[in-house]
This record gives sequence, C-alpha cells and structure tokens, in this order.
Amino acid sequence: MNLSRDLDRWLPPGARELLRRIGSCAGDLGVQTYLVGGPVRDLILGRQSFDLDVVVQGDAPAVAHAATLPDEPPPVVHPFFGTATLYQGAFRADLATARAEIYERPGALPIVRWGSIEQDLARRDFTVNAMALTLGGPRHGDLLDLHGGRSDLEHGLLRVLHDASFVDDATRILRGVRYEQRFGFAFEKLTLEALQRDLRYLDCLSPDRVRHEFERTFAEDEPEQALRRLNTLNVFSAIHPGLVFGPEKAWILEGFRRRALPPSQLYTVYWCLLAWGLSSMEVETFATRLCLPRRIQDAIADAVALQELAPYLDDPGLTPGQVFEVLHGRSVAALIVAERLFVRPFARSSLSLYLHRLRHVRLSLTGRDLQALGIPEGVLLGRILSCLRTARLNGEVSSREEEAALALRLLNDA
Ligand code: CTP
Repeated sequence: MNLSRDLDRWLPPGARELLRRIGSCAGDLGVQTYLVGGPVRDLILGRQSFDLDVVVQGDAPAVAHAATLPDEPPPVVHPFFGTATLYQGAFRADLATARAEIYERPGALPIVRWGSIEQDLARRDFTVNAMALTLGGPRHGDLLDLHGGRSDLEHGLLRVLHDASFVDDATRILRGVRYEQRFGFAFEKLTLEALQRDLRYLDCLSPDRVRHEFERTFAEDEPEQALRRLNTLNVFSAIHPGLVFGPEKAWILEGFRRRALPPSQLYTVYWCLLAWGLSSMEVETFATRLCLPRRIQDAIADAVALQELAPYLDDPGLTPGQVFEVLHGRSVAALIVAERLFVRPFARSSLSLYLHRLRHVRLSLTGRDLQALGIPEGVLLGRILSCLRTARLNGEVSSREEEAALALRLLNDA
C-alpha cells in the first residue's frame, strides 16, 4: 500500500519537502529512512500531523547533516543517542537511528542498541503506533505494517504488540487511555486484560515519568475524558489510593478548560482538582510519588487546607476583613477549585467574595503616604496599613481622606 497521496493531502508543503529531502539525502548516503509512529497513524486517520518522527536505518546524525541546506540552522545532534533534530522554517523533524530495546526490569528505561526498522517497530507500544512509511526513492510512501496496525486503526482497536508490554513500560497504560479517548477507540480484549492485570507495574515507574504522563493527559483536547477513564480503570487508585476523579470533577474540569486560561495556570487548577479530597498526609505522599514542582505542591496543599477551613468559612457573620485574613496568600488555582467544590453555601460565597472582589481591593494610601503623614517606618506602620486594609474591606473607609483620618487616629491611639 502506498500513502504518498495522503502525505500530499495531510502534510503542509514545507513538511513534505523536508521529508523528501531527508529521504533523498539518506538515499545518497545509501541508507533508508522512514516516517514512523504517530504521524503515520494520523495520516491514515486523515488527521493533520505536525510531529515528524523519522527512523533512519543507519546513522541519523549523518543524515541530518547531509539534509541541512547551507542557509539553514545546523541540526541539533546527540551522537551518543543516535538522534538529531532538523529545522526547516516552521517545521522540525526528529531523526533517530533505528534501535532495538531490551527491558532489564519493569519500569526501567531500556537498554538500547542499534537495530533494523523491523526491530524498531517491534519495540513500540501499540500496533497503531508501529507502522512506518518509506521515505525517498521509488518506494516513497510505501507502508510498512508488520503488526496489523492499519487493520486495528480501521477497527478502532488499541492492541499491544506482546503480552508483557505494560510490564516493560507501564507508561503505556496512561498512553493507551489517552489514545482510546482521543480517537474514540477501544482496547482489544487481551490488551485490556493485560492492562488491568499489570496495573501494579505503575509502581515501578519513576515519579518524573508518571508526572510527564499526567501533563500529557492534561494537554489533550478533552482531558476530562481520559482522566475519567483512568479513574474507572483503577489506574488512579494504583498510582495513589486516595486519588479519585469522578463525574463531578470531570464536569468542573470541562468548565475550567472552556475558560481558556493560560496553560500553566490551567494545569495548576487541574492538579488542585485531582488532589481535591486527599487528606493533608495523602497530599504529601501524592506530591512525592509524582515529584511535583514546589509551585504545584503549594497549590494542592492550599486546596487541602481550604477543605479544612470550610466549616470556619461557612459562617454568615464573617466580615469581609475576616474572610480576607483567612484566604489571603492562598493559591488562586486552589481557590478557584474550592469555589466550585465547596458544598457549604456560606463558605462558597465567602470564597466568591474573596476571589471576585476582596483580593482586588487596594488601599488609596501607600506606606510612603503614611510616612509623609508622620508615621515612622517599622512595625507600627505595618500594623496601621493592615488595619486600614481591613477597614477598607469592611467598607468602614472608602476614600483617601478617610484612610488618612483613620491612620492618624490609630497613630494617636498607639
Ligand atoms: N512509543 C512507544 N512507547 C512509549 C513511548 C513512545 O512505543 N512509551 C513510540 C510510539 O510508536 C509512538 C512514538 O514512540 O508513536 C512517538 O512517541 P510520542 O511522540 O510520545 O507518541 P505519538 O504517537 O506521536 O503521540 P501523540 O500523538 O500523543 O504526540
């Protein structure tokens, strides 16, 4: 089967040109190159693909050098790993020397040695990701499908290449769920059995690898689908016993996603939502399991603290100043999540009040202004500023003049 027509149809001209050049320069060096994995799958599915992953049956860095035009930036080459990245305008291609992998123990990164395209495809996660397209020469666009990937694509099936696939690399469990939800596929029966049988091998993965898979899941178009599915397949409870992602969280996450927050803030919100419901001790073990960055750890710790504060905040008699005192300095992501998940009505409105009004309240007077009024720099000035802020929040002062008058009264009383 030849897919050069699909290459023309689904790849932008610049990407096509880059692939042709790689294929023909490799041909001049006497080596064969292939487009592999995700882009081949996407091409057959009729989806645009911007990742150009190329396997070279030979020295990938040498091909990358040969395929770089004099006026282009030099390729970024890692000779030890046999990889190179080529840039052409807006496009980039990742070249890798074909390899075979041996997994010495579950979860560990494999031992790699150079191999053939067949070996390179045989080490991959799912049949639909284990196809290759010949680049260059008269067979340009020929499909190499040794594991039935095309038929599985047609039937919407995710199938591992061998029974120990998830044991070798349990990140494939999370990857598989992403593909399943992204494409609306189903796990083939034996693959699903293997996945459920091998959940315990998630324990063998390093924290960084697990976290990376979460982040890739967050980056999906509809992450709530994959997160829900990870929950029902008991993947979450295998990663951390307290981790739950039910329909309510999914619904709330969808709402956040539609708000189009910047990704870094959005992901912090996602982490808080995921961690919601964990106890403070569980949050610590969860953060350690995934080696979460400090910023995320602080946010999820705030999410837990807010749950503990809910009974206190659920008091209609609290003044805005008291609400501010409790919530000031907490992660906004945690507050946004708590606002949606609090069930106590007054606690919820206290949060909304803080998020939408109190945290934006500013005094008219600055510390410098107070000094100009004769209040010396130091602890007293700090105390007066804080009293002014509380008075402003509670509506007891509302202008610069009233703030100044109150400041002077406080100075006299001090
Ligand atoms: N791969 C694998 N096992 C893994 C990671 C990657 O077999 N644990 C292989 C798959 O063949 C995959 C390719 O490496 O297609 C590239 O990996 P990646 O870029 O993560 O996958 P894509 O299929 O391109 O995924 P996505 O569409 O999510 O970018």
